Amino acid sequence: MAKLTILEFPDPRLRTRAVPVETVDDELNTLIDDMFETMYAAPGIGLAATQVDVHKRLLVVDVSSDNSQPNALINPEIIELDGETMTEEGCLSVPGYYEEVKRAEHIRVRFLDRKGEEAELEAEGLLAVCIQHEIDHLNGKLFVDYISEAKRQRIRKRLLRDKRHQAEVAM
Ligand code: NI
Repeated sequence: MAKLTILEFPDPRLRTRAVPVETVDDELNTLIDDMFETMYAAPGIGLAATQVDVHKRLLVVDVSSDNSQPNALINPEIIELDGETMTEEGCLSVPGYYEEVKRAEHIRVRFLDRKGEEAELEAEGLLAVCIQHEIDHLNGKLFVDYISEAKRQRIRKRLLRDKRHQAEVAM
């Protein structure tokens, strides 16, 4: 396993729209292992392939406090959304910043699992929020896109100026 480098806002590569995974093979599974290692080490509760400069539709999540609920979602698609929730979000690619974002409270997502088999997951609360946040990454979107332009520019300047920072609950 290897720890990967996480791209940081405003790196333009974070704006790339990821393409679907065509084959779930050993190479992809190695990438998934590396993404889990990178996410747990950060530490974070979610990581999209986009954030490690691999532009394939793949994300990993684990919102448990003891790393006991790892989920890797390949080609994830949200097929049901309902309710509304406001959560203070952070992001491993925007270290040190937390902002309230409104998202669906409950989702159902369809994806391929690590064996390449079709699967579905029903999620609510933090897990649902995290999956929506990671799917945004696959579409080149960041949580700071939901806040005001002025605030985003302030974050951008500060991150460019100061590379010393520590994320707490980031995804
Ligand atoms: Ni993120």
